[in-house]
Formats: sequence, C-alpha cells, structure tokens
Amino acid sequence: MTERTLAIIKPDAVKRNLIGAIAARIESAGLAPIAMKMTRLSKAQAEGFYHVHKGKGFFDSLVAFMISGPVVLMILEGEDAIKKWREVMGATDPARAAPGTIRKNFALDIEKNSVHGSDAPETAAFETGYFFNALEICHPES
Ligand code: CMP
Repeated sequence: MTERTLAIIKPDAVKRNLIGAIAARIESAGLAPIAMKMTRLSKAQAEGFYHVHKGKGFFDSLVAFMISGPVVLMILEGEDAIKKWREVMGATDPARAAPGTIRKNFALDIEKNSVHGSDAPETAAFETGYFFNALEICHPES
C-alpha cells in the first residue's frame, strides 16, 4: 500500500553535514520525498510534536536537543513507507540498531539519534500535517 510518513533529519546530523548522505539512503530505499524544508523549531513546536512523550524522563532534554540547531523535515511517500523508513533508520538506540542502518552508522546516542520517523499510520497523519499543509506537497510527475 502506498503510504506517507514524516522524516526528520535531526540537529546532530545537520551539524555534521549528513543531510546528503541521509537523503541518498532515503532515495536508494525507493522512498520519494514529496515535501521538504529546513527550519529551526521553536520550543513550543518541539513540545507539541513530541507531546506523547511529555512526562517522560527524557522529554525536557529531547526538546532542548531538537531546538539546538536546524532540522530538515520531509514527507516520504512509497510502498509501505512507514515500515520501510523505520527499517532504513534502525532502532531508536544506535547500540541496538542493525548494521547498515542510518542510526547504526551515524547516531551519537539514544537521544542524538540523527533521524525521526513516524511509527504508525495515525502518527504519520498527525506528524505530516503538523509540519506541512497540502500546498507544500509536490509530486515529481505533476
Ligand atoms: P524519536 O524516534 O524521534 O522519538 C522520540 C525521541 O526521544 C527519540 O527518537 C530520541 O531522540 C529521544 N529519546 C531519548 N531518550 C529516549 C529513550 N530512552 N527512549 C526513547 N526515545 C528516547
């Protein structure tokens, strides 16, 4: 089934000039970026995006990290895009990520883990709509 998912290249990866390397892995996996922008999140935007983690021990540190520098936001489209992007990213904790995944190769630790991906269709719908409106979505063939 063709799906859409949200991808974020996080501040640790942007700072280390890894945007191109990560975009290449996305495209090699057959996932098409159909919307993309670089921005620096506000505290309120980061807190709203990660609202499901509010109250967890890592929440404040996560928000501080996510606003520490620019991020690249993307909507990816493709067959089973949600699962496929999660496979390409690897496990949240790079110590547990499979060999060859983005997090295994690039992540610094469980927080500074280089990329984000939606984990289910409902979260993908919320997350893509959180950062992009319909006018910002482009189809390569259109
Ligand atoms: P992400 O996939 O964006 O979802 C939540 C983020 O919280 C996660 O990646 C990490 O950047 C961060 N995080 C920090 N500590 C933890 C933890 N113990 N478990 C899960 N996520 C964590």
